[in-house]
Amino acid sequence: MEKERTFVMIKPDAVQRRLAGEILSRFEKKGIKIIAMKLVSVSKELAEKHYEIHKGKPFFKPTVKYITSSPVIAMVLEGNNAIEMVRGMMGKTDPQKAKLGTIRGDLGQFIGRNIVHGSDSKETAEFEINLWFKPTEITKYKRIDEQWLTE
Ligand code: RTP
Ligand code: MG
Repeated sequence: MEKERTFVMIKPDAVQRRLAGEILSRFEKKGIKIIAMKLVSVSKELAEKHYEIHKGKPFFKPTVKYITSSPVIAMVLEGNNAIEMVRGMMGKTDPQKAKLGTIRGDLGQFIGRNIVHGSDSKETAEFEINLWFKPTEITKYKRIDEQWLTE
């Protein structure tokens, strides 16, 4: 298994609903390493760049409005197979279709307020990490349980 980095965002609805601790706790318990994290009031420019792949789709403008409406928590997570693992923990885009046990399935109700974002591929992860973080904001440290998270 390959060590990967992924960009994760706790969206405005989750911060407002005081679910940030619950969501962070799930990633911590899984053993994924937090290597960068900050609370951000997202500008329209940043939101449009983040969602540029969806430009022209009907949900583009509402999604930009949603993500800029109140602060988000942006982070970089690292771990084995982290991109797919985080996507699995998040569940399907539409919380109505996401399985119980996933973040969206347990905590969300509506596709337009779906709690959390995670990069969907290696290319996207690289693009998003560079878009949201300066290299100096990404930390390097060893966690004491790392030896217990690999064979
Ligand atoms: P995300 O990028 O936020 O992790 O979500 P995703 O990959 O599961 O879904 P994606 O297709 O990339 O959609 C990006 C975000 O746009 C909003 N959306 N709304 N109303 C709708 O039909 C609709 N479809 C997508 C959601 O906030 C979704 O997470
Ligand atoms: Mg996406």
